[in-house]
Amino acid sequence: MQIDLTGRTAVVTGAAQGIGRRTAEHLHAAGATVALADLDPDRAAAAAVPLGTRAIGLGVDVRSRATVDAMIGAVAQRFGGVDILVTCAGILYPTRFQEITEREWDQTFAVNVSGVFHCCQAAAAAMRIRGWGRIVNLSSTAGKSVSTLGGAHYTASKAAVLGLTRAAAKELAPFGIAVNAVCPGLIDTEMARTNTTPERLEAYARSFPIQRLGRPEEVADLICFLASDHAAYLTGGSFDINGGDLMI
Ligand SMILES: NC(=O)c1ccc[n+]([C@@H]2O[C@H](COP(=O)([O-])OP(=O)(O)OC[C@H]3O[C@@H](n4cnc5c(N)ncnc54)[C@H](O)[C@@H]3O)[C@@H](O)[C@H]2O)c1
Repeated sequence: MQIDLTGRTAVVTGAAQGIGRRTAEHLHAAGATVALADLDPDRAAAAAVPLGTRAIGLGVDVRSRATVDAMIGAVAQRFGGVDILVTCAGILYPTRFQEITEREWDQTFAVNVSGVFHCCQAAAAAMRIRGWGRIVNLSSTAGKSVSTLGGAHYTASKAAVLGLTRAAAKELAPFGIAVNAVCPGLIDTEMARTNTTPERLEAYARSFPIQRLGRPEEVADLICFLASDHAAYLTGGSFDINGGDLMI
């Protein structure tokens, strides 16, 4: 099976690093034109440079509907439309339940839930014009169970992404738009490394049936499949990729 995304235009949020960056690279390698969007426009642009043509870096704050609209509008104008959206922008606070502040709670939901909603709604409007679309939202094992590193706000936000994904999938299917979520376990990125010690990460890795952390490129491969025509009969799903940490 070869994934061919030639002629497709993809938007990846949170694409300056981690899972988002690898996903943008894999979509690009599969033939797509890719917009790498991130809160940090300079790092997004720097991540786009090695890809050469068919790639641009853009700034976006997914918390702000206005910047999301501007970003999707800029991509549609430059490349003629938007076919694929991958919502990787996300934040995690490792705060224990009793210490979570109102500000942290609100920030987590602003990025992880409202941000996904803003991007899905804006991208779906563009996808409807062509009658074809693929949206892949980043939930987490946390969305189905409890986060390993994150606090209750992170777990709750990732569960919300699953609900949003199902509801959007149901309403957007008649327009040729599929909406799915991926639920990674512990993946070796900045998000994981900055929120615990190397020793604890190693101990978590050893506790999984597949005794290592996941790699961002492994999540990127799953996302590329979901973005392709091979996934034509999949929508509203949530796809686990966690080394066996959670089996349900
Ligand atoms: N790494 C893991 O173990 C893991 C596991 C499950 C799910 N996830 C999810 O996968 C996604 C990517 O995770 P990662 O590990 O690559 O994270 P990361 O922290 O390495 O990268 C996240 C990116 O999102 C960007 N971002 C943050 N706030 C933003 C905003 N308001 N607007 C636009 N961009 C913003 C950051 O600048 C950064 O480049 C996240 O949604 C995360 O919750 C990660």
